[in-house]
Amino acid sequence: MNNASIGVFDSGVGGISILKALQNKMPNEQFVYLADSYNAPYGPKDRASIIELCINNTEWLLSKGAKLIVVACNTATTNAIESLRNQYSCPFIGIEPAIKPAALSTKSGVVGVLATEGTLSSSLFYNTASMHTQNTQVIEKIGKELVPLIEKGITSGLEIEKLLRQYIDPMLDAQIDTLVLGCTHYTFLIPTLKKILPNSIQIIDGRDAVARQTQFILNKYNLSASTEQQKSTAYFTTGKTKELKKFIPENESIEKVSITP
Ligand code: DGL
Repeated sequence: MNNASIGVFDSGVGGISILKALQNKMPNEQFVYLADSYNAPYGPKDRASIIELCINNTEWLLSKGAKLIVVACNTATTNAIESLRNQYSCPFIGIEPAIKPAALSTKSGVVGVLATEGTLSSSLFYNTASMHTQNTQVIEKIGKELVPLIEKGITSGLEIEKLLRQYIDPMLDAQIDTLVLGCTHYTFLIPTLKKILPNSIQIIDGRDAVARQTQFILNKYNLSASTEQQKSTAYFTTGKTKELKKFIPENESIEKVSITP
């Protein structure tokens, strides 16, 4: 079991940002990455549909022998991780908007959260935000239309900048000093965000926390790979391989799969 792979899934290419953090932190592990790009974006879907898609992704990763699954998607985590944990015995690591570290580090007392509709409307997000932001003002914005552009490999340029300004300007007017990226796709927008945000704004996403937690759980359940193992990652997509290709190392190949139950 220890040399089995870690399964990682997202609605598409966004989870590659998490995968990179996992690979850096755990160089001896094997990974299987599943981009469910055929069904992206998950953000505007209702909770029941998101849960169903996450179950399909989980079944598929388990059929590949995954020993642990990283839900590399805020929308999937906030809507479905509880159902997944109830239904399957393998450990799941999820990602939620990093609202707690943002609330702890803000000096202006105002933080912005850019995330999908599915994440911002979830009860998990609501509960986490209520617990940690009693003394913090939170400005939430749905990053409408961003995920489909990022899926096509568009992470900079006028269209992206225009959308970002539309979401960020009201946050800046409200004096945020911290911006939480609550969608794994948005990590690829950091260079563009840095261009349009004042230097004083801190950008937070949960990548490194997910990698740390994954390592902690592997150790806790004695599931870490042996050091002799050759590192490798297998990439799969339910969408177009040429779109995922833009986000992974050039020498890696991608297999297109259909995972409808
Ligand atoms: N990467 C997903 C997230 O973190 C993207 C959401 C979507 O597919 O709309 O929420």
